[in-house]
Amino acid sequence: MLSAESAALVRATLPAVAGALDEITARFYATMFHDRPELLDGMFNRGNQASGAQRRALAGSIAGFAGALLENPTARPDALLSRIAHKHAAVGVTDDQYTIVHKYLFGAIAEVLGDAVTAEVAAAWDEVYWLMAGALISREALLYQDAGVQPGGIWRPWTVVERRVETSDVVSFALRPADGEPAPRARAGQYVSVRVAVADGTHQLRQYTLSSAPGGDRRRITVKRVTGDADGPDGEVSTLLHDTVREGDELLLSAPFGDVFLDEPAAAAPLVLVSAGIGCTPMTGILAHLAAVGSTRPVLVLHADRSPADHALRTETHDLVAQLPHARAVFWYEHPGAQEPDARTGLMDLGGVELPDDATVFLCGPLPFMRDVRGRLLNAGVPAQRIRYEVFGPDLWLPDSTA
Ligand SMILES: Cc1cc2nc3c(=O)[nH]c(=O)nc-3n(C[C@H](O)[C@H](O)[C@H](O)COP(=O)(O)OP(=O)(O)OC[C@H]3O[C@@H](n4cnc5c(N)ncnc54)[C@H](O)[C@@H]3O)c2cc1C
Ligand code: HEM
Repeated sequence: MLSAESAALVRATLPAVAGALDEITARFYATMFHDRPELLDGMFNRGNQASGAQRRALAGSIAGFAGALLENPTARPDALLSRIAHKHAAVGVTDDQYTIVHKYLFGAIAEVLGDAVTAEVAAAWDEVYWLMAGALISREALLYQDAGVQPGGIWRPWTVVERRVETSDVVSFALRPADGEPAPRARAGQYVSVRVAVADGTHQLRQYTLSSAPGGDRRRITVKRVTGDADGPDGEVSTLLHDTVREGDELLLSAPFGDVFLDEPAAAAPLVLVSAGIGCTPMTGILAHLAAVGSTRPVLVLHADRSPADHALRTETHDLVAQLPHARAVFWYEHPGAQEPDARTGLMDLGGVELPDDATVFLCGPLPFMRDVRGRLLNAGVPAQRIRYEVFGPDLWLPDSTA
């Protein structure tokens, strides 16, 4: 619980700290990676460093947590902490590393805010940091325990048993554990980290959602190639996976994590699965799981894409929907094609779709798409806690994700 004295100091300095968080987090990462380069090798995602997305997510989460504590000193904002803890577990964060982050983060705060950071102010923010760290450490310990792994010991080798080209820029890799042990438990909608050696001899991790049913020993990821443009280079890991990984190769995969998953496949309440582009991967994982358990839930699948030819896992989605007695799908394409005569033309328009009452919605796609759909769902009266969204990058909504 945040003490009353610290709360007063945090309240008084929150505007100054929040205003400088961008500068603070930039300095924090720069000094930490300078002194501890091993953290950038095989832990942090350098694409997210280059874009500044990770910096903004860290800053937003600290401001969000501090704000929640000021409203209620015993608050532990669940959506925020759970999203971060799952990502931390998927990259192998361990409790001793919180001391390293603390050192560089508070060093950066002192440098950026200078004399404004008196010993009392620093102590008050220290309390906030360790309350947040403590809440994360205990959640991460439970996640590692639940996954049956030692803290940080998340990696296992998997063999690529099939490589399938889905569209001109999407490839699926089916995998089996290379060590002959059973696959770890996964939940429909969760993701794994994939760890690869990159050209300069260091390592990079990226997360990929399991696009197959979570049971059995065969798992699948479905990867879209990120092509560079005037704003940035080709995606480092997706390009490497597309260009170099073939059947018979081994990949290092983390245990599965992720807070957006189907927890009650046998429940009766309707489901609405809304996606765009490569955001279809959690939805096919969920559909495959529902089909595997013989679910009779009403399921409405809504997907938007550039064209039927660009729509990864399209035929499989039809097959899975056909296996579920109360499921149906509506697709939107900017460029329709003869393969999908019943599809609608243009961007997804929820106006013409009757949403089932009391549905749980799973949402995944590019951020502008999700922002738009989520806003429409909230306006249509769907409660925020029934909208489970997955972000294929650092979650920049965290502070308002329960709003
Ligand atoms: C929970 C989760 C689940 C996911 N599931 C899937 C999935 O099922 N399928 C899937 O395909 N993807 C998925 N992703 C996305 C995936 O993890 C990767 O982010 C994606 O493959 C891109 O990685 P990359 O290494 O190819 O690109 P990166 O190298 O990380 O580049 C990403 C972007 O940053 C830009 N960039 C990089 N460096 C610079 C620079 N120096 N200057 C300017 N711009 C730069 C690049 O041009 C590119 O646009 C998921 C992500 C998360 C977080
Ligand atoms: C209180 C302390 C911390 C806070 C508030 C924090 C916050 C965050 C947030 C908000 C994210 C993004 C989550 C998302 O994907 O949406 C994140 C990711 C991450 N964190 Fe932390 N974190 C903390 C401590 C640590 C520690 C101790 C480490 C280990 C050195 C660490 C390593 C990482 C890594 C590697 C990622 C993924 C980065 C990426 O993919 O770009 N964090 N953290």
